[in-house]
Amino acid sequence: MKSEQAEPARIVVLISGSGSNMVAIAKSCLKKEMDGEIVAVISNRPNAAGLERAKELKLATDFVDHTEFATREEFDVNLIRTIDEHSPDLIVLAGFMRILTPDFVRRYKGKLVNIHPSLLPKYKGLNTHNRALEAGDKEHGVTVHFVSEDLDGGPNIIQAVVPVLDDDNAQTLQVRVQAQEHVIFPIAVKWFVEGRLSMIKGDAYFDNQALPETGLQLNPESIS
Ligand code: GRF
Repeated sequence: MKSEQAEPARIVVLISGSGSNMVAIAKSCLKKEMDGEIVAVISNRPNAAGLERAKELKLATDFVDHTEFATREEFDVNLIRTIDEHSPDLIVLAGFMRILTPDFVRRYKGKLVNIHPSLLPKYKGLNTHNRALEAGDKEHGVTVHFVSEDLDGGPNIIQAVVPVLDDDNAQTLQVRVQAQEHVIFPIAVKWFVEGRLSMIKGDAYFDNQALPETGLQLNPESIS
């Protein structure tokens, strides 16, 4: 894939909030840890703090304000138009808090990845840290996965496992999980731009080997 091309892989990052994962990926690109370049950071929220952080990194930014569209379909058509202006090789959902239409997901099949703060398939949806605490889980974590038409349901690429401590609350747990997000997301993006990752018939492959349901699972010791 990209390894045969002279130009860095073109990455579009979609955000809704603070953009800390976008920054982690951008820094990895800027440090030349991978042959990739963020060609645009796009938000559905014009005031997303992450857009300012992207500008500070001299990245191109844009927004498609979802409140201006009557339907999810109309929003996605406009989002697609904005994304495609940048001819991306990879679209990264980094805290993008919108449910995408099947048309959107199909269009970018195999080149659309998301980060979700749980050990998927556990705790799809929101409030994952509270749910892990309420269940009394001893381990929690974060997953990067390919996006399929099922919400938080595409095949896993990589997970980081984070131990739950006796005195954890949702906030302390979130801080430790997010530290791992910033480690594993750039790794997954690097693998993609190196052509080592693919999605075939709904399964994720790494170096032509089907990945287990968890994806490649790392614990903090192995990635710190
Ligand atoms: C992250 O916790 C991610 O797991 C979730 O949304 C959050 C985004 O944070 N999907 P940030 O905008 O990257 O700081």
